[in-house]
Amino acid sequence: MGRVEGKIAIVTGAAKGIGAASAKALAREGAKVICTDLDETVGEALAAEIQRTGGEAVFARHDVVDESQWERVTKLAEDRYGGLHIVVNNAGIAPEGRPIEDKPLAEWRHTLAVDLDSVFLGCKHGIRTIKMTTAKGGSGSIINISSILGLVGSANASDYVAAKGGVRLLTKAAALECAEAGYRIRVNSVHPGYIDTPMVRAVVDRGMPGLGVSGNEMVQFLTMLHPIGRLGAAEEIANTVLFLASDESSFTTGTELVVDGGYTSR
Ligand SMILES: NC(=O)c1ccc[n+]([C@@H]2O[C@H](COP(=O)([O-])OP(=O)(O)OC[C@H]3O[C@@H](n4cnc5c(N)ncnc54)[C@H](O)[C@@H]3O)[C@@H](O)[C@H]2O)c1
Repeated sequence: MGRVEGKIAIVTGAAKGIGAASAKALAREGAKVICTDLDETVGEALAAEIQRTGGEAVFARHDVVDESQWERVTKLAEDRYGGLHIVVNNAGIAPEGRPIEDKPLAEWRHTLAVDLDSVFLGCKHGIRTIKMTTAKGGSGSIINISSILGLVGSANASDYVAAKGGVRLLTKAAALECAEAGYRIRVNSVHPGYIDTPMVRAVVDRGMPGLGVSGNEMVQFLTMLHPIGRLGAAEEIANTVLFLASDESSFTTGTELVVDGGYTSR
């Protein structure tokens, strides 16, 4: 028996990085996974790889800021697999670093839409669908991927830290609503340190010109921020997602699980 055997999951931003690793881990442990992303080519390939290796997955193109597309993917979960137990609100963007005084309002709003509104929509449609699936038995779990930058600040990332800080408290509100309503749905946030994914590779490539840090020096700079002495791997976050998705975490709700190699312990 897998750790999430028979559960039905939606993972957003599943084409790459943490989302791809989470979708694979859930499928390996017995879940049926709807992998969603904007990137159809890579997303379809991921679902095919999961199928090839004996798991069950389907890809759906899904822009997480569009509410009608949330309605479509939750209906897909019901029509294809008979319900929904797990939502991993993972899709996100890290905009180019810029001080507040130079940040266009449109850029701020776009980051807040992709990194925070999307999680609200994932909770809203996730709760509605999971509560019906679990009304007669079983349990559900919503996992919101925040960041260490939802716990501590960072210069030149005002929009990102505001969105990720919002995800942290939105998670607690959703957890309390579900618990107080008697729904069998737990809601938790995950706070990764810097993880070696395409998102972080883009940050590394950009460097920090304002501080005189080149792309080449950036990996060393980021590594130094983690007492454990390296960046994290996507699979290390996927392991945390798997724990929160499974019934092993049955008494865990409203919590913020920090997986950061010691970054925020200093
Ligand atoms: N990598 C890190 O160091 C790190 C650290 C803390 C938190 N996070 C968070 O983890 C999550 C995943 O990060 P990652 O590093 O794997 O990123 P990534 O850029 O490697 O992958 C993100 C995926 O999300 C998809 N996506 C972007 N906008 C979307 C949209 N509007 N609708 C649907 N899909 C969309 C992309 O196509 C991509 O496949 C993000 O929320 C990120 O903020 C990452």
